[in-house]
Amino acid sequence: MSRRPVPTFAEAPSTSRARVAASILDADLGNLAHAVTRAEREGADRIHLDVMDGHFVPNLTFGAKTIKALRRRTRLPFDAHLMISNPGEFIEEYLDAGCDSVTIHAEITEEIEPTLRAIRAAGRAAGLCVKPKTPLTALAPYQRLLDIVMVMTVEPGFGGQAFMADVAKSKLLQAREYLSHKLHGGEIHVDGGVNRESAELVGSLGVDILVVGSALWLKGRDMAREIRLIRALADEGYQYGLNNGLPPIPRDKMVTFASLPRPHARTLREEIETAGIPVLLFRSPADPADMDDEVRRWDLLLPASAEAVAKERFGRRRSALTRATARPA
Ligand code: DX5
Ligand code: ZN
Repeated sequence: MSRRPVPTFAEAPSTSRARVAASILDADLGNLAHAVTRAEREGADRIHLDVMDGHFVPNLTFGAKTIKALRRRTRLPFDAHLMISNPGEFIEEYLDAGCDSVTIHAEITEEIEPTLRAIRAAGRAAGLCVKPKTPLTALAPYQRLLDIVMVMTVEPGFGGQAFMADVAKSKLLQAREYLSHKLHGGEIHVDGGVNRESAELVGSLGVDILVVGSALWLKGRDMAREIRLIRALADEGYQYGLNNGLPPIPRDKMVTFASLPRPHARTLREEIETAGIPVLLFRSPADPADMDDEVRRWDLLLPASAEAVAKERFGRRRSALTRATARPA
């Protein structure tokens, strides 16, 4: 029986580090369903949903019901950006609507911690956003409950405003400190005025998610090309600004961290996942396809971007398990 190839990912993994989240605030609000399907077709990595209550910001957009209706139109992850004064009262509705992450604002007067806990308890990513004038230190009391830090580079409330480069330079790199508890998967989002002119700068400041609004919906604009351009410029900024000229590790790239018999593979996976690094288990192609699953080796795959920290934390454990399960020569 021919050897079965190692399962690969359904879609071609992205070769970039930076991600583009399409904000639909400046899309045709009369046809949001079309806007999200178009953004997916044109290559956006996420949909950024700007919820405004006309109170926290001087504008009113849409809420959980609209998001729920849009949820079945695309498979892209939904990042909700709640610019509302009382997110705690409505958080269950946004979770029920299918948001993959929910970011609230640090400037609200309502209690913040219970809402962050509710988001995480639902298995979603919890974020806090700071307006341009709000110092990052406002995040400190909630640091350990954060998966996302969102930095506004415009005053929230409207799309199409000018990008505040000084705010970006003073906050984006420092924002990473507030996610130091996350070994993997913590995200810095930049929101406001991001386009092909500002992409390289924010990339050089280590941003993970670039929220892009008006720059995508301009009449006659080739959205797919704009998304590719903005992503490539951000990665170039990262390459030369933070990575000593080396190309960034693609976000979807996975590496084999260990090869072990199943019981040991499962034990090590559990330990690594408890530390916050996702792990996939596959039958190792090094053993014949028809070999008994209990005898054969299993590969532990994890994101290449987490390999260095995994080696640091679990390198010795891996060696000990590998030695203990080595087959006699
Ligand atoms: C503004 C919103 C942004 C906005 C971005 O308050 O939070 O997400 O839609 O749009 P541009 O990219 O046009 O600034
Ligand atoms: Zn936003």
